[in-house]
Amino acid sequence: MEIKEQINREKLPGHVAVIMDGNGRWARKQGFVRVKGHEKGVGAVKATVEAAAELGIRYLTLFAFSTENWNRPKYEIDALMKLLVQAINNEMESLMENNIRLTVIGDLQALPPKSQRELLKAIGTTSNNTGLTLVLALSYSSRWEIVETCRKVVEEVQKGNMKPEEIDVHSFASMLTTTDMPDPELLIRTSGEYRISNFLLWQIAYTELYFTSTLWPDFTKEEFHKAILDYQNRERRFGLTSEQINQVEATKKKPTK
Ligand code: FPP
Repeated sequence: MEIKEQINREKLPGHVAVIMDGNGRWARKQGFVRVKGHEKGVGAVKATVEAAAELGIRYLTLFAFSTENWNRPKYEIDALMKLLVQAINNEMESLMENNIRLTVIGDLQALPPKSQRELLKAIGTTSNNTGLTLVLALSYSSRWEIVETCRKVVEEVQKGNMKPEEIDVHSFASMLTTTDMPDPELLIRTSGEYRISNFLLWQIAYTELYFTSTLWPDFTKEEFHKAILDYQNRERRFGLTSEQINQVEATKKKPTK
């Protein structure tokens, strides 16, 4: 049976986050310059978005450009920004056809004005779509996000809109850039690296982690299906015991009168 057929549609992760890694290594292995790897990586982005939309996953967050990536050579940064704008323009029709809503997390203002304009346009055009929400993390790092949120909290307290005793896990989370999204249930990282690299640190407290040695440009729909299946075969306990989880499941299954 195909891997896709083995996926239980009732137990899909609501939010999948992906650290797309290995573009540079892929290019080097083929004797190309790094940018070729990013170009090929756009194909893997397309396959992954399609796979998530086809399955009916609600949120897909892709780590497309980190705060730390600003330290890369200028030509590589320019190429990545150009690829991003091109990919968005090329895929607009497909986003609309597939009812996909585009959003962004990160320090958007740090991006070149043209990238900001194109992104905001695409976000606006797709804003009423009700299928998959595709979240691009751009100029994003989790420590940046947490510090920004702390600043907002302090400002709210100073303005008298919030009392210090009202600061808790829920009110804090509601002020993060991910406020409207559920936490990821599955995080995929490609290229055989076992790191989180400053990505969604707050949000992945209970997330299942999936690592594959496949380099991002080689990542396919089938690889995505494999990750979902692997996730479905895990028991998620959220700090509880297996017995407690089984009890909760049993209550869920009890017919209600
Ligand atoms: C990591 O590979 C990948 C990136 C920093 C960028 C990902 C960007 C794309 C796939 C293209 C555009 C994105 C969208 C959303 C259309 P790396 O360069 O760190 O690889 P390495 O670790 O092998 O050097």
